[in-house]
Amino acid sequence: MEPLPSSWYQAIFIRKSRRSFHPRRPEEDKIVRLEKLCREFRPFPVARAELVRKSPDEVFRGIVGGYGRITGASYYIAFLGPEGVPHVEEAVGYTGEGLILEATVLGLGTCWVSGFFRPAAVRAHLDLPEGERVFAVTPVGYAEREYTIKDRIYRGIAASGKRKRLDEIVSGDLAEPWQRTAVEAARLAPSASNRQPWRFAAAPGSLTVRTDGGKDVGRFPKRLDCGIAMMHVAVGAQEAGAPGRWTLLDAPDVARFDISA
Ligand SMILES: Cc1cc2nc3c(=O)[nH]c(=O)nc-3n(C[C@H](O)[C@H](O)[C@H](O)COP(=O)(O)O)c2cc1C
Repeated sequence: MEPLPSSWYQAIFIRKSRRSFHPRRPEEDKIVRLEKLCREFRPFPVARAELVRKSPDEVFRGIVGGYGRITGASYYIAFLGPEGVPHVEEAVGYTGEGLILEATVLGLGTCWVSGFFRPAAVRAHLDLPEGERVFAVTPVGYAEREYTIKDRIYRGIAASGKRKRLDEIVSGDLAEPWQRTAVEAARLAPSASNRQPWRFAAAPGSLTVRTDGGKDVGRFPKRLDCGIAMMHVAVGAQEAGAPGRWTLLDAPDVARFDISA
């Protein structure tokens, strides 16, 4: 696989979901850079992302039960793939998290939203082929400098700052230093309701990602969350000097990362 930008490693530690945005529009060069990445970053060709130069307010309007209505963003990115194709969810998560980390590097705020948005409003903005599903969106813009009261409430509901301990999510020995860097990066990944549905099995030269089992509820596929964690694994491994490649696997496994020989 192509090397990932090394700046994405720092971004893992800075990124937080942001839901309240400032009216100031991001500079044109930043948006052009994100548009270019949307076109060119296709690590799994089945998934793609498209930046929409419109406010996402319509996309979030009237959402009942949304646990963090998003307001005021300048633009948004839609994360797309064909409906019902094997491995599309993890591919969307992996690809989308690349965009999220790049936006973070550019100083822009984001928030993965896979459940509480209106796909029909996205379709009104984009000419999508039949059978292509909008798996998720993220607002893109300058977040308000401080968390608003709304932000604090929603961060509290999802306990967004908390992450599971490594011994709760890892099996096998983290015998190789890159494995620890990779799973520590993966542990910080965002997930729907911060449920962290990923598990990692370490073996010589590899890390296998699987879900914690159980069924998906609504529009919150666990394999999408696992795809996001896969991106953090790859960025962490590369940072530790151990780039590698992914093999996609069938449920309940998601994918195995093998370091390059
Ligand atoms: C796939 C996915 C879907 C999400 N859906 C929503 C959503 O519908 N509404 C929302 O406010 N936040 C949503 N989130 C954001 C999570 O609540 C957030 O990532 C988690 O609480 C961890 O917080 P952090 O991103 O600040 O680290 C989603 C995150 C992911 C990864």
